[in-house]
Amino acid sequence: MAIVSVSGSDLLARDEAIIELKEYFSALSVRKGRPLTYKIKTYGCQLNEADSEKLTGMLESIGLNECVDTEVGDIVIFNTCAVRENAEDRLFGNLGIIKSDAKADKDMIVGVCGCMMKVPENVEKIQKSFPYVDLVFDPQQIHMFPVFLRDSLRRKKQLVNISSEDYIVDDSLVPIVRKRKFRALVPIMYGCNNFCTYCIVPYARGRERSRDFYSIITELRNLEANGYKEVMLLGQNVNSYKGPNGETFVDILKEASKMTGFSRVRFMSSHPKDISDEVIDIMANSTNIETHLHLPLQSGSDRILKLMNRPYTVEKYLKTVDQFRTKVPNGSISTDIIVGFPGETEEDFQGTLDVVNKVKYDSAFTFQYSIRPGTVAAKMENQIPADVVKDRFGRLLEIQNDYVYKSNQAKVGLTEEVLIEGGSNTAPDILTGRTRSNHLVNFTIPKNLQKPDFTADDYEGMLAMVKFTHARPYSVDGELVEFL
Ligand code: SAH
Ligand code: SF4
Ligand code: F3S
Repeated sequence: MAIVSVSGSDLLARDEAIIELKEYFSALSVRKGRPLTYKIKTYGCQLNEADSEKLTGMLESIGLNECVDTEVGDIVIFNTCAVRENAEDRLFGNLGIIKSDAKADKDMIVGVCGCMMKVPENVEKIQKSFPYVDLVFDPQQIHMFPVFLRDSLRRKKQLVNISSEDYIVDDSLVPIVRKRKFRALVPIMYGCNNFCTYCIVPYARGRERSRDFYSIITELRNLEANGYKEVMLLGQNVNSYKGPNGETFVDILKEASKMTGFSRVRFMSSHPKDISDEVIDIMANSTNIETHLHLPLQSGSDRILKLMNRPYTVEKYLKTVDQFRTKVPNGSISTDIIVGFPGETEEDFQGTLDVVNKVKYDSAFTFQYSIRPGTVAAKMENQIPADVVKDRFGRLLEIQNDYVYKSNQAKVGLTEEVLIEGGSNTAPDILTGRTRSNHLVNFTIPKNLQKPDFTADDYEGMLAMVKFTHARPYSVDGELVEFL
């Protein structure tokens, strides 16, 4: 796979396709006697969410609106994830469900993109079993979606366009419509070079490409000026960001920490092999960078980490954790853990439980190992039987859940700043938000502080001081002290 900068002529072709599609859909809308809608179903991680915001931008630029009340629109796009088998199964299940809608409406367009499309077997399956899918393309070419859409309409038969290149297309060259009015997802790099032996992402997303530093900072400044309160800097391994003039992730954090319009600067993921002391120092000293570190452990056994091609030891990992806990005493740590990697013994698994008991994660994403064809681990002998994986997974979950609960209990009695993410219109006196340490909070508004003319949406992105009153297994309850 080669890394190729997108050409100006490709982007011009894309813009011409947008103009053509606008005319086509406007005529179709007249013929149908109603406005046309789209629906995007997004699976997987925040990078896929960010890609879906680009699809949204392009769909809105051709004149369609999001369909809110039904599951299908005039265009339905599935933005897929290949990281575990169950994500893949969900796609095929959902494609089956929309078959009757697609057959009933000859004008309806079904598209499938995302990481699963980089696995040839998945594309073959769609070609063979889902003929009503109109277009298939890969994440590297998301910027060319309008061209594929137009070409599939012209051809009137399934169009499959999977590239073998890794395009560098800066986010500033693609229209973006953001899902949340207070939160902006900002990829700072694409792809991954780490090739952890269990993981499909490097195959799906291609080689690591860092975005231009100036472009990132300019985007952040614009977001701040446009009133965004939270920014999420995204990459498979943000600590290996390398700008064209040697800029580092720390340089991005330094700039973002000066942008006081943001109340939260979040980032993920950090690879334990690359996180630097400086990142932790900035977290400790800034006022807007979250005090939450997502540090995927994967396994607490050095032997398994080596087999996973994760070049750090448990000792080094724990050193980073200690450093963070000392320098950011009110901070929180979350992680990703895989149970049942090939060859994992009970002793290795005990190593994972040991780390969990030492770190006492504030939250954790725990996964049963899922064999990913094409990866190195898929070919390893001694794959672990499903019942053993399940049993270990259950034991891990029980221990870890207790730490989540304890972390929530530790908040009770404190008063902290919460960034409001929304509420529900049916219970207007209850709002939801997160602390700077990423704890999820549901809080009530006392009668005298209620804003009768506000809907749930109006609260989004506001800051509030909240007193925490009660802990739940996965959240904290509280009461509003004041809106900030
Ligand atoms: N780049 C991020 C993770 C991206 S994938 C990082 O390295 O931190 C998110 C998580 O999915 C991984 O951290 C891992 O825990 C899990 N995962 C990846 N491949 C998996 C597999 N084959 N089976 C089970 N879990 C997997
Ligand atoms: Fe996958 Fe490892 Fe890359 Fe994360 S760092 S995306 S786990 S290969
Ligand atoms: Fe899934 Fe692709 Fe993200 S495989 S986890 S959507 S990078």
